[in-house]
Amino acid sequence: MSTPAQRARELRDEIVRHNDAYFVNDMPIIPDADYDALVRELRALEDAHPELRSETSVTQTVGAPHSSVFSEVRHGEPMLSLDNVFDEDELRTWCDRVAKGLDGEANEISFAVEPKIDGLALSITYVDGVLTQGSTRGDGRVGEDVTDNVRTIRNLPLTLAGAPRGRVDIRGEVFITKADFQDLNTRQREREGKEFANPRNAAAGSLRQKDSAVSASRPLSFLAYQLVDLDQSMMLTTHMSTIAKLSEWGFLTAAEIALVRGVDEMVARCTWFEEHRHELDYEVDGVVVKVDELSLRDQLGTTSRAPRWAIARKFPPEERTTRLLAIEVSIGRTGRATPYAVLEPVTVAGSTVSLATLHNQDQVAQKDVRPGDLVIVRKAGEVIPEIVGSVVEPGARRQDAWEFPRTCPECGGALVRIGEESDTYCVNPACPAQQLQQILHFASRSALDIEGLGEQRVAQLIQAGLISDVADLFSLSVEQLSTLEGFGDLSATSLVEAISEAKSAPLSRVLVGLGIRHVGPVAARELASSFGSFDELASAPIEELEAHDGIGEVIATSVFRYCRDPENVDLVSRLRRAGVELRETRSTSKEPQTLAGRAVVVTGTIEGYSRDEAEGAIVARGGSSPGSVSKKTYCVIIGEAPGASKLTKARDLGIPMIPGSSFTNFLSSGTWTTTVD
Ligand code: IVH
Repeated sequence: MSTPAQRARELRDEIVRHNDAYFVNDMPIIPDADYDALVRELRALEDAHPELRSETSVTQTVGAPHSSVFSEVRHGEPMLSLDNVFDEDELRTWCDRVAKGLDGEANEISFAVEPKIDGLALSITYVDGVLTQGSTRGDGRVGEDVTDNVRTIRNLPLTLAGAPRGRVDIRGEVFITKADFQDLNTRQREREGKEFANPRNAAAGSLRQKDSAVSASRPLSFLAYQLVDLDQSMMLTTHMSTIAKLSEWGFLTAAEIALVRGVDEMVARCTWFEEHRHELDYEVDGVVVKVDELSLRDQLGTTSRAPRWAIARKFPPEERTTRLLAIEVSIGRTGRATPYAVLEPVTVAGSTVSLATLHNQDQVAQKDVRPGDLVIVRKAGEVIPEIVGSVVEPGARRQDAWEFPRTCPECGGALVRIGEESDTYCVNPACPAQQLQQILHFASRSALDIEGLGEQRVAQLIQAGLISDVADLFSLSVEQLSTLEGFGDLSATSLVEAISEAKSAPLSRVLVGLGIRHVGPVAARELASSFGSFDELASAPIEELEAHDGIGEVIATSVFRYCRDPENVDLVSRLRRAGVELRETRSTSKEPQTLAGRAVVVTGTIEGYSRDEAEGAIVARGGSSPGSVSKKTYCVIIGEAPGASKLTKARDLGIPMIPGSSFTNFLSSGTWTTTVD
């Protein structure tokens, strides 16, 4: 056991090492959550033993010293960091502290709640409305001069129309949107054979380039959240009016920012952000709550590293480290053999994870993960947990590199790699694992959504010799099923009915269910609505398939081949004979998908739209329009005479309320600039 003083020293060394990796080299070694845990441990030690604290401790300072590549910039006002809280109780405690500092009631304070963007802080100086300098945060007092690179950020105004004379510093976050990050990484992979670990590293690495031509080639964006009025010429009194000013000058500001009053509304709004974090265009690792009144901020003041008037509520971490116990292989519906990690259970993004995918043989080799390693697990939203890589443990002995098995763990057949592909396949069409997965996929929610066909049932039906492919499902009878263990008359009848209902499913769902390679729900909808029937689709030449939105050469070729493979032709004709309709009612929607995946509730009357038209317009843009408000709701459109219960529910859940007068704008942009209080 080490003494508190020794442990504090160890922790400081460790944290300094990670600060360097994160702030100077843009290449973190461990996930943010592990880093936060080290800082919390050190803070707790220093609280228990105040004699261990010093002004230079990493708990009292910001960031890391700048490197020597750029010249130094002394900030006009320090660039502070934020203190963190990790749950609702800590957030409420912070509120109480703020109220005490103001001699007031927490419920009377107005807060701005905004996303905490995972990028890097930047300060941009404008003199007489003209951009003169850009600098990184550095240690908070002195940062790096990155002016040339900052000028290449495309969404940044170079002059501010109507700005007062004198100097203002605009502060905010440099980041890369999720979509831009995907494109950038595809390019990086093709050109350099390597990728950025995440958008934050990519943004940091791109801004801190010696050659500004490299920065210019990277898709950097800037979002503004603070204005430092060095010459006191602006007369701004609140955060929200500052944000409005920044937006008027042409800066991007957080569209989802909200002004709330009191603790409960603030907590609800934080929960809304957590629930919808994956629907935002950029990566967020939490929300920032700020006291809105600037005069109250002055009363509260700051510590050496962070303001007392703001707090970061961090979300449950999406990356954690844990021990890799073993690597195994599972067989999917196409026969693909996917290696996966068996892990010491760990809580990631709020749920326990003990299995995570390793994708394919090349990924295991490239990441060099071996049983026994300490590994980083990532789980984001609905996405399947995956292994990011190993954490190097200095001095640790590692096991030998893992070898991909040569035979299928399910049927014993050969596992083969075809051509240049990274994937390995079990090529035995009679492999029971493949049959099982194909049928499960056909019955799954995104395909025909057949209730009562879970994994155990399907395995039982295959084993009993009643089915071996999806067409067999339609000839199952109540008599056959009733003889099986676990089935009664009732469950047998409802399963046969559920299967029969699937016969009238739209073609798009059947296309998904057939599991044609590269055809996901979006492509299936496009193909089904364009061609209307399976026969039309099956007789189309490749060029005609490709002529449709979102259908490239890869999808077109895959569909073309599928429809000409004799086994598939036979399967589809058996489905047809069983009564499956294989038809789609044509949709004419060609609207931009501004609301893809978002649930938007409408209440009251909106001028210019009937209720059906309003809901139809949302659906046509990729959204859904449920009849009631829940925590899954993205926002509520408030028309004339709105429903009282919907309003209350939305307020309780912190869901943004958009005035009906902004509806048309909202449809075309997918975001809003005003909300209803
Ligand atoms: S306010 C004195 N607002 O988070 C005010 N910071 O962990 C300090 N960040 O250094 C910053 N989104 O780089 C603020 N909406 C937001 C933010 C935000 C991201 C970053 C910023 C800050 C860091 C602290």
